Amino acid sequence: MSTVLITGANRGIGLEFVKQYARDGWKVHACCRNPDKASELNTVQGDVFIHALDVTDHAAIVSLASDLAEPIDILVVNAGVGGRGEGDFGDYNYDVWKSVLDVNVYGSVATAEAFAPHVKNAKGKIAFISSKMGSIGDASGGAIAYRTSKTALNMAGKVVAAALAGEGVAVSIFHPGWVETDMGGPNALIKPDESVKGLRALIDQSPVTPSPRLLAYDGAEIPW
Ligand SMILES: NC(=O)c1ccc[n+]([C@@H]2O[C@H](COP(=O)([O-])OP(=O)(O)OC[C@H]3O[C@@H](n4cnc5c(N)ncnc54)[C@H](OP(=O)(O)O)[C@@H]3O)[C@@H](O)[C@H]2O)c1
Repeated sequence: MSTVLITGANRGIGLEFVKQYARDGWKVHACCRNPDKASELNTVQGDVFIHALDVTDHAAIVSLASDLAEPIDILVVNAGVGGRGEGDFGDYNYDVWKSVLDVNVYGSVATAEAFAPHVKNAKGKIAFISSKMGSIGDASGGAIAYRTSKTALNMAGKVVAAALAGEGVAVSIFHPGWVETDMGGPNALIKPDESVKGLRALIDQSPVTPSPRLLAYDGAEIPW
């Protein structure tokens, strides 16, 4: 049996990862901030284990990693926040900016660090769910907190990929598409099932490399 661990698993793209892997018979470690309030996650059928995890709590990440002494084939680093309240140029809210970096960058990297030994044991894969909005080549404007957090995550993902390539771990960095979730909103172009179906296929094929590319859910390459 294969094992996957997913952060931000109670709604949106993370919840869809849980549903699809569970449906396909995987053992799923589903991490979320408030398991008691994760009503939909709690109804997913299959080999699903739900864990409380706020990715800004690095001690909690390390503690969970220590409790789960088992190989992990795929680590989906998905938990993320938008930049609500970040403000516009001339009026940026630096507290909001820092809180976005805390989740999207430090939380993501801390998760990868803590679970890297489990993934190494499985010669497995780490997938960072980033965003096209972090692409410098593709940037339009606005959303400074969210964009910079994903730009930093892209660089961090490449650094982690270089650190783990020699260990046989494939690290990949993805844009999930504009997806209809709480974050993506009602005007989004695709539903979570399409995004996650595409992402899972790409994760399966992801190579061990010190220099991954930034790929959208449909395999399209996005400039850094
Ligand atoms: N939707 C899109 O169009 C889109 C586009 C590009 C990239 N993405 C990326 O895809 C990922 C998933 O987004 P989504 O659309 O599914 O967003 P979402 O519906 O807003 O869900 C975000 C998830 O992250 C969790 N989360 C937030 N802060 C956390 C923390 N400190 N610790 C642990 N979990 C935390 C949330 O948990 P709570 O319920 O506890 O808040 C929730 O489970 C994010 O990294 C996002 O940046 C999304």
